[in-house]
Amino acid sequence: MHPMLNTAVKAARRAGNLIHRAADKIDHLTVTKKSHSDYVSEVDRAAEQTIIETLLEAYPSHAILAEESGTQGDSDFVWIIDPLDGTTNFLHGVQQYAVSIALMHHGVLTQAAIYDPTKNDLFTATRGRGAFLNDRRIRVSKRIQLADALIGTGFPYTNFDHEEAYLAIFREFMKKSSGLRRPGAASLDLAWTATGRFDGFFETGLKPWDIAAGALLITEAGGMVSDLNGGDSFLKSGHICAGSPLIHEQMLKIIQPHLTDALKA
Ligand code: IPD
Ligand code: CA
Ligand code: CA
Ligand code: CA
Repeated sequence: MHPMLNTAVKAARRAGNLIHRAADKIDHLTVTKKSHSDYVSEVDRAAEQTIIETLLEAYPSHAILAEESGTQGDSDFVWIIDPLDGTTNFLHGVQQYAVSIALMHHGVLTQAAIYDPTKNDLFTATRGRGAFLNDRRIRVSKRIQLADALIGTGFPYTNFDHEEAYLAIFREFMKKSSGLRRPGAASLDLAWTATGRFDGFFETGLKPWDIAAGALLITEAGGMVSDLNGGDSFLKSGHICAGSPLIHEQMLKIIQPHLTDALKA
């Protein structure tokens, strides 16, 4: 394993174990609301601290972009961190959440680790070296037709600007795919697309920490990741469509006619 990925895995497991231990006391946690349906608990913050400490201990000069504490440092190497992706699930005792850590070097994603502590699923990728679930190589789905495809998504619940377009796209996938799922942790939706559990995934308004690690997993698993218009601005806009090459192409055909100007980036 690449030494930088090794460090990311160490950080993700530490944070995951901290989250797992805290899952028994969700009713006693301090929780605040950042915006509509965006909660943050003391566990999110503690997990983030653990991750940053672990990464900076190994690489003190690297920069950080983390959901709860923002940016620190200035470097060609930037760690992009979601300490607890799926906070709403976590706070309700729904076992679908993960730690997501990616490394970007000169603007290119090079390492990814996503750890699901409830299932002990560790998803990893290094640019050019494939994607793995635990020790097993993973690849995107082989399904050919959208009609047979299971599509993951997430609702635009923190930003209702895209509601109408989203619902129109949702309605069409409801009719034209074999099913839609909204598990509630974008990093795992992407990891599950990398393993072929989902044939494709789309969502609007995500943040770099929701997407970065999952995007590298998918490309390393042979899949495609783009913005909703087929371009490459998904990390910046947070509007994302991903899947196996065949399903991704069919998804874009459904999505594109519904896009507003704001969703085209
Ligand atoms: C959220 C989850 C969710 C997505 C939201 C994200 P958080 O992340 O990834 O699936 O739909 O947009 O904000 O806040 O639980 O880390
Ligand atoms: Ca959040
Ligand atoms: Ca998140
Ligand atoms: Ca989070």
